Amino acid sequence: MMKHFLVLLCCLCTFHSYSQTALFIPSTITGTTFNLNIQTGTKTFFTGYTTPTYGVNGAFLAPTLIMNKWDSVNLNVTNNLPVTTTIHWHGFHVAPEYDGGPGQLIAPATTWTPSFRVLNGAGTYWYHPHGAGKTDLHVSKGIAGMIIVKDSVEAALPLPRTYGVDDIPLIIQSKAFDILRQIAIATEDDTVIMVNGTMKPYLDAPAQVIRFRMLNGSSLRSYLFGFTSNLPFKLIATDGGLLDTSVTLTRIRLSPGERVEILLNLTGMTGQTLYLKNFGTELPQGIYGADTVGKGVTTIPGYYANPLNGADYDIMRINVIAPVSGALFTMPSSLATLSPWAVASADTIRTLSFDPATASDSSTYAEGPFVMNGAHFAMDTVNIITHLNNTEIWKLVNHTKVAHPFHIHDVQFYVVDINGMPPLPSERGKKDVVLVMPGDSVRFITRFEDFASETIPYMYHCHLLHHEDDGMMGQFIVSPYPEKVMNVENHVDLKLYPNPAIQLLNIDLIGTSAGRPTEFAVYDLFGGKMHTDYLIKKASIDVSGWTKGIYFISLFANGDVIHGAFIVE
Ligand code: C2O
Ligand code: CU
Ligand code: CU
Repeated sequence: MMKHFLVLLCCLCTFHSYSQTALFIPSTITGTTFNLNIQTGTKTFFTGYTTPTYGVNGAFLAPTLIMNKWDSVNLNVTNNLPVTTTIHWHGFHVAPEYDGGPGQLIAPATTWTPSFRVLNGAGTYWYHPHGAGKTDLHVSKGIAGMIIVKDSVEAALPLPRTYGVDDIPLIIQSKAFDILRQIAIATEDDTVIMVNGTMKPYLDAPAQVIRFRMLNGSSLRSYLFGFTSNLPFKLIATDGGLLDTSVTLTRIRLSPGERVEILLNLTGMTGQTLYLKNFGTELPQGIYGADTVGKGVTTIPGYYANPLNGADYDIMRINVIAPVSGALFTMPSSLATLSPWAVASADTIRTLSFDPATASDSSTYAEGPFVMNGAHFAMDTVNIITHLNNTEIWKLVNHTKVAHPFHIHDVQFYVVDINGMPPLPSERGKKDVVLVMPGDSVRFITRFEDFASETIPYMYHCHLLHHEDDGMMGQFIVSPYPEKVMNVENHVDLKLYPNPAIQLLNIDLIGTSAGRPTEFAVYDLFGGKMHTDYLIKKASIDVSGWTKGIYFISLFANGDVIHGAFIVE
């Protein structure tokens, strides 16, 4: 009790004495060649203490990489650390050998040289280490940088895009320091909040529309961001880029790994001061950062001693200054065109269950370690084999008492539903991280396009870095061979005739699968959609004029996907 009281007291006084440090804006690298030198350094975060750090091209954090969609980029990543590390391009759609997971280790004094074409749309991505068991340590010590992708869709919109002036990168991280002010990991003492490595920063922002690119680069902590007086803002982008329409909000939740872009209209506010705030009192229980985690069982040790949990506090002061030339004063509502995959087009549904590693001990329901489908991460184990051009629904089911931000490499996805309910408008954009609440079941849909390998896997994992390092991670391979060719046997409830078909193909649905209207889709070998329609029991389609070859049909019945294949001659 005594300890609790002292901690609270000391935190109250630090919150009131808001310091005068200008927000650090990371430098940028543009063009198509990116030279990144990972190095050790030191910083003085606390007067009288030297804190050893890691950084890229500097002592702490990393430069912002600005890339254009469709450019072929070359990255020269030199590891000057005394230890092996990796660099992963979080959110990027790249070949598995360039993804920078634990399979692409960079030994000390060596240079890794991935090169790839930028296929992602305009958006805010990031890069950070991903070595097996070492992600938390290397990220916490300072290796984290933003990647901004530009494209012609974004360029045509009236959006603020002057970096550091009206387009501001905000890398928000909580950190733990030990008694000697060394950065500590895998602890619940993350009592220090930094934005771009700056503690208690202020930002001079012009009285016009400004854009914040927000990245939660924290190891464990989620935030519910908002502004003084509940000033509304517009959400324009999620992890994978622009929404179709902006969404007006007063709060936005960000779990580790997630990014958003928001617009804030400061027009006419010259001379005013406001704060970017965290509203931790409003975070639902179970999220790291809420007042309780693990209700009904034991909580995470040390959780309640951390004054940031379940608290509202200021993150950054914003001093509104005079507008700059070229300012925008209105916010667009219509943005990009999104085309989520149809649920009925899914080739496969997979379930991933999050469980405590030792189910018999209820204390681990909140504390971990955690596993997915019963398995710990193992370097030599491929947990899932998908197939090139598969459209898949992944169902994430959380049986633990903690919310886990699930992240998948290679692809962006769309949330289909959360406990059967459609996602909120703010959750309908492209995502690569989704927070799965305790007891919840979240389904997303994605498609594994462009890159395949029989041997090099991609990762999926919880983005709470402590959980990831503890094994809440798996590997998947995108096989170059279509699943359907390997498995051309038709489902027993599906009759396709005549086969081969020359003019008319008849589709009969029989048995327990028949009777309810169901959407079906026909694809060619490369996943191109040939035809979609509804059927209850019978349908026929005209295939005359189709290229000769194998075609696949998939439809939903009895809550499952049913496949069939036929030949057109
Ligand atoms: Cu941001 Cu696999 O990570
Ligand atoms: Cu990633
Ligand atoms: Cu987790």
